Amino acid sequence: MNFDLSDEQRMIREVARDFAEREVRPIAQEIDRDARFPHETIKRMGELGLMGILVPERWGGAGGDTLSYAVAMEEIARVCGSHAVVMSVNNSLFCDPIHKYGTDAQRGRFLRPVASGHEIGCFALTEPQAGSDATNQHTLAVRDGGHYVVNGRKVFITSGREASAALVFVQTDQAKGSHGISALLVEKSRPGFLVPKTEEKLGIRASDTAEFVFEDCRVPVEHRLGEEGQGFKIAMASLDGGRIGIAAQALGLAVGAYERALAYARERKSFGVPIGQHQMVQWMLADMATAIEGARLLIWQAASLKDAHRPFSLQSAMAKLFAAEMAMKVTTDAVQIHGGYGFIKEYEVERFFRDAKITQIYEGTSQIQKLVIARSVLGGKA
Ligand code: CAA
Repeated sequence: MNFDLSDEQRMIREVARDFAEREVRPIAQEIDRDARFPHETIKRMGELGLMGILVPERWGGAGGDTLSYAVAMEEIARVCGSHAVVMSVNNSLFCDPIHKYGTDAQRGRFLRPVASGHEIGCFALTEPQAGSDATNQHTLAVRDGGHYVVNGRKVFITSGREASAALVFVQTDQAKGSHGISALLVEKSRPGFLVPKTEEKLGIRASDTAEFVFEDCRVPVEHRLGEEGQGFKIAMASLDGGRIGIAAQALGLAVGAYERALAYARERKSFGVPIGQHQMVQWMLADMATAIEGARLLIWQAASLKDAHRPFSLQSAMAKLFAAEMAMKVTTDAVQIHGGYGFIKEYEVERFFRDAKITQIYEGTSQIQKLVIARSVLGGKA
C-alpha cells in the first residue's frame, strides 16, 4: 500500500495551497462578514484549473483524478469553506455528470465554459418537501413537441444566483416514482426561470444559496441529460462523487481550525506555562490530530476506488459521515482551546466552527450517510 501522492497530485496540491494562502486568506474574513460572493478569486480558481479538475482538457478541464480533487479541496477549505463549496458543486455535481452522461453537443455548450471557470454551474435537486427524501420530486416537466415545459420550485441551491446554468431534476412521469425523474440542463437566461430569493446563512456565508421557481419554463428536449427516467440515478451517482468533495471540505476546515489551535496552545500561557503543556489541552490536540488523519485516509480510499473505476458508494458515505462529524468536533475543540478568544471573530476559529456545521447537512445529512452505509452492510434496504 502506497500513501505517497504522485508528482501530478502534489503539484495540484501546491497550486491550491499557494492560491489559498496568497489570494484567499487575505479576504476570507471580510467576505464571510459581508456575505460577499468572491467573483475575482472564483475566476482565478477557474484559471488555475480548479473548477473542472476531473474533466479532460479537451472539454476545458484540468484532466486530473479524484485524489487530486480531494487534496486540492482540502487546501482550499483549510483557508475558506465558501470557496470550497463553490468549487465542490461545480466539479462534482455539474461538470462530472455532464462529462459522464452528456452528448458532445451538451459538453460543448454546458460543460466547457463551466469546467474552464468562465461560468459557474449548479445542481437543483432539493425541493421544499424533498430534502433527505429526494425521490419525492414535485417539479413537473411536461412534453410539448420538442420542449419540456417545467413548473415547480427548488430550494437551497448552492451557487444558484451566480450560476449561468443548472442541472435540474424534474418529474417527467409521476406514476413511475424515482424511475419517472429526469435531468435537464437549463440556462438561467430561459424565460420562466426565476430566482426570487437568496438565503442568509450561519456559515459558508460568502457562497450563494438560492431558491428557484420555474413558471412554464421551456427547455429543449435535446438539453435532457441521459434518458428520460434516468435522472434519479444520475443524481445519486453524482452525489456519490460529491460526498468525497464535501468530506474533503470538512477535512480542510478541521485542519484550518486545528492548526490555529496548535499555534495558540504554544503561545498562550496559563498557570505560568503555555497551555499546550496542560494535559487536558494535549489530549484535545492528540484527538484532533488522530481524527484528522483518520478522515484523510477514508477520503483517499474513496477517491482511489473511484479513480480505479471500482464501487465506492459505501466508502464515500463513510468518508463523508466521518469527516463531517470529525470537523464539527475538531472545530468545537479549537474554539474551546482558544477560550473566550475563540468566541470572537478576530481569531477565525469561530468561522471554521460555523462553516463545519453544514458539512453534516448538505449532500446527504449524517443520518442519510448512516442509512446508505447500513443498507450496504446489511445488503439491500435496512
Ligand atoms: N447510485 C446509483 N443509483 C442509486 C444510488 C446510487 N448511489 N442510490 C440509489 N440508487 C437507485 C436505487 O438503486 C433505486 O433504483 P431501483 O429502483 O432501480 O433499484 C433508486 O435509485 C431509488 O433508490 P432508493 O430506493 O434507495 O430510494 P430511497 O428513497 O429509499 O433512498 C436516499 C434514497 C439514499 C435516501 C436518497 O434519497 C438520498 O441520498 N437522499 C439524500 C439527498 C441528498 O444527498 N441531497 C443533497 C442535495 S445536493 C446538495 O446538497 C449540494 C450542495 O448544496 C452542496
